[in-house]
Amino acid sequence: MSTNINIMDMFQKGDVLKTCAPMVRYSKLAFRSLVRKYDCDLCFTPMIVASDFLRSVKARDSEFTTNTADRPLIVQFAASEAQTLADAACVVAPFSDGVDLNCGCPQRWAMSEGYGACLINKPELVRDMVRHVRNQVGNPNYTSSIKIRIHQDLRRTVDMCQKAEAAGVSWITVHGRTVDERHQAVHFDAIKTIKDSLSVPVIANGDIKSLGDVETTQQLTGVDGVMAARGLLSNPAMFAGYSETPLECVWDWVDLATDQGTPFTCFHQHLIYMLEKISSQPERKVFNSLHSTAAIIDYLHNTYGSPDTQIQISNTFPWSLFEASLLEMSLQWTTVAGFLYVEMTILFLFCIPFISATRWQRIFQLSIWKRMAKFWNKAFIAMIIILIVFFFDAMREVRKYSSAHHTITTDVHHNTFDNLHMKLFRAQRNLYISGFSLFLWLLMRRVITLINQLATEMGQTAALQTQAETDNLAAKKYMEENELLKQTLMDSKGEKGTAEGNELLRKEMEKLKEVQKASEEALKNSQSQLDTMKTQYNGLTREYDRLLKEHQTLQEMGDKKDD
Ligand SMILES: Cc1cc2nc3c(=O)[nH]c(=O)nc-3n(C[C@H](O)[C@H](O)[C@H](O)COP(=O)(O)O)c2cc1C
Repeated sequence: MSTNINIMDMFQKGDVLKTCAPMVRYSKLAFRSLVRKYDCDLCFTPMIVASDFLRSVKARDSEFTTNTADRPLIVQFAASEAQTLADAACVVAPFSDGVDLNCGCPQRWAMSEGYGACLINKPELVRDMVRHVRNQVGNPNYTSSIKIRIHQDLRRTVDMCQKAEAAGVSWITVHGRTVDERHQAVHFDAIKTIKDSLSVPVIANGDIKSLGDVETTQQLTGVDGVMAARGLLSNPAMFAGYSETPLECVWDWVDLATDQGTPFTCFHQHLIYMLEKISSQPERKVFNSLHSTAAIIDYLHNTYGSPDTQIQISNTFPWSLFEASLLEMSLQWTTVAGFLYVEMTILFLFCIPFISATRWQRIFQLSIWKRMAKFWNKAFIAMIIILIVFFFDAMREVRKYSSAHHTITTDVHHNTFDNLHMKLFRAQRNLYISGFSLFLWLLMRRVITLINQLATEMGQTAALQTQAETDNLAAKKYMEENELLKQTLMDSKGEKGTAEGNELLRKEMEKLKEVQKASEEALKNSQSQLDTMKTQYNGLTREYDRLLKEHQTLQEMGDKKDD
């Protein structure tokens, strides 16, 4: 509990009182602490339903949080009965400087409960409520105020305000729009009329987005204070003269919100509002999708730098981002890059000229490969799948960052631009690495298969060559021996000679058959040598037939001689 501040004295000073509007979910303790740091004179709590507040301890604990530095503070209530409002005021009086009655909330649920803007049609009830608070809160400095929207018939608004003034209202905040109006222009003339018809202070509310607007509004209406809601959400430092949220204010919010244990959604939403003007659409897209306080802090550090380093970073090439990005190169990409280098080394070895295909085959015939062969196909398929997944992941990232990169505008923060650029670069690098690894992996498998085929064919060709040479030699030998046989017969050396000749011929025939058989075997082994072998085989067969014929002729000649 702390001593009440006399808000009426603040009005007396003559300066325009700068106030932070009541905002459900937003004008909570952490945000109030932030705007106070940036020249906000007076803060309102979000609207609290008085009857709920009185009924439940839980509602009290969750709806109303404050601390000793949170002053001057106005607690805003929604109420439809004078006594309820007075009771709620008595509960919060020790911790605040006044209560405010919400007579401006246009939401259907509130109106149907008899709260908010429907009260502008019940001036007597408003008067009673003000009076009850005045009479029942002991502290004379404790204020009782109302916040209204204007009636379509302005006279009715003026009438209600005068009734409230008569009942002892401390001041009146006028949101210069009717219940049906949302984003239409504020009726400053109506605010001026109300101000002119009252002697209590009036605060003007509606579309105050800068310090310039504060001045203009004051000049147009002659009010004693101004109240901002959305203007402060998007730039909590507005009352201190900043045209857009300064980065130190963003970091102040991070500190205050984390210190006070602000729920994540509220913490995030405030930053979304604050960064709205100082970030581009792609940046907002990325930022809005963050899901944890740590991710947000990380993003802010990467994009804007920490409060002390931001100036230094902005003037130089973002080496720190570059280094960070290198460090961030994840394990998966280090592995894929490593794999790529292994593939390149193996392919390089395959290309070394002095290791011939047959030598490679001998290497492949080592027992280690046989053991590995069991897993080879599975490993190959698994690696292909992994690389394809990485490839598509990298492609997705490239598309994501390049679309952000293309839509980036000139007003984007340079650190953000560098960060995005770095991310795009990293995604592209990953795409090349995975694509190239995939290509090399397929190439390597093909090269190994080709080397194997080549080595097998080289072996078969060598075997056939030897075979053909042996056949040639054999044929040559038969020809010579045939010549010899012919000579023997010509010399007519009788039966003995013929018998010897016959025996020799028979042996030669058998040999010839063996050679023929071997040729057939060789033929089976190599399809590519089929024609050669067939020719050879036919030649040998023809030679064999010719020799056989010659042999028969010689035999017949021998027989005739015998006769
Ligand atoms: C998110 C949000 C929450 C609000 N909650 C309240 C509220 O609890 N009580 C109230 O009287 N007005 C509330 N308002 C209305 C504002 O206080 C203010 O009257 C209105 O936004 C017009 O001011 P502006 O143009 O500065 O935004 C809320 C407005 C916003 C944007």
